[in-house]
Amino acid sequence: MNSTANTKKRLLEGQRSIVTGGNTGIGAAIVEGLAEAGARVVVDYVTEPDKAEALVQRIRDNGGEAVAVEADVSREEQVRAMFGAALEAFGGVDILVNNAGLQRDAPLTEMSLDDWETVIRVNLTGQFLCAREAAREFIRRGVNPELSVSAGKIICMSSVHDVIPWAGHVNYAASKGGVAMLMKTLAQELAVHKIRVNGISPGAIKTCINYDSWMTPEREARLLELIPYGRVGHTRDIAKAAVWLASDESDYITGATLYVDGGMTLYPGFEDGG
Ligand code: BGC
Repeated sequence: MNSTANTKKRLLEGQRSIVTGGNTGIGAAIVEGLAEAGARVVVDYVTEPDKAEALVQRIRDNGGEAVAVEADVSREEQVRAMFGAALEAFGGVDILVNNAGLQRDAPLTEMSLDDWETVIRVNLTGQFLCAREAAREFIRRGVNPELSVSAGKIICMSSVHDVIPWAGHVNYAASKGGVAMLMKTLAQELAVHKIRVNGISPGAIKTCINYDSWMTPEREARLLELIPYGRVGHTRDIAKAAVWLASDESDYITGATLYVDGGMTLYPGFEDGG
């Protein structure tokens, strides 16, 4: 075997990426996955700047490139400024991971308009604003074959709740149902520009957002009744899918949703024949 085996180009070598909500949870794992694959990363955050800075430092210590940028994805001018910061830091953007999202849970009769609007604004409008900015940049630049066979990749973080109704979370489920159609429609509209748009729908992944559902062995056991594969997901399960969807390994895949959920969407209640 010659030395080329050791110098094999990493999957995302030199590509420039933005991960919204990249400082914690699934977003942070995606940031690390992209950086390990050779991408330069803008780590977007709104709260907990210390986590964003620590992540950036870790990537730099490992020889990678990253910058932390504060931007609320639901604010048009802040999204513009974030893309401006990415251009300044890395000279372009090749990958957008639309990951920022939140929950404000309440039964319908107790849900405030603010709970509803906050979730739709961040989870859905935020993805629209970031995708629009990314598409403008991808179309302006076109394909750079040195980096990738496509002009750009957008990954929309959805949820199993884009197909599984979720009582007590109507704002969240509606936002993710919206993300599913946002993703497909953008994939249809942008394919002509050689831009790929895909979705990832995570199931139960251990993060702060669902801490209550796995914090005790009893609760975790209850949660596992919904997961045929028999384990709660790790953030790196999602990161691996994101790296693959961002890479040319998944070229020819656009408008698809990858359910990374241990089978949560397989209607486990029917496994005994219903
Ligand atoms: C939610 C989590 C939940 C999971 C499975 C995710 O989209 O954010 O809170 O555990 O779906 O229900």
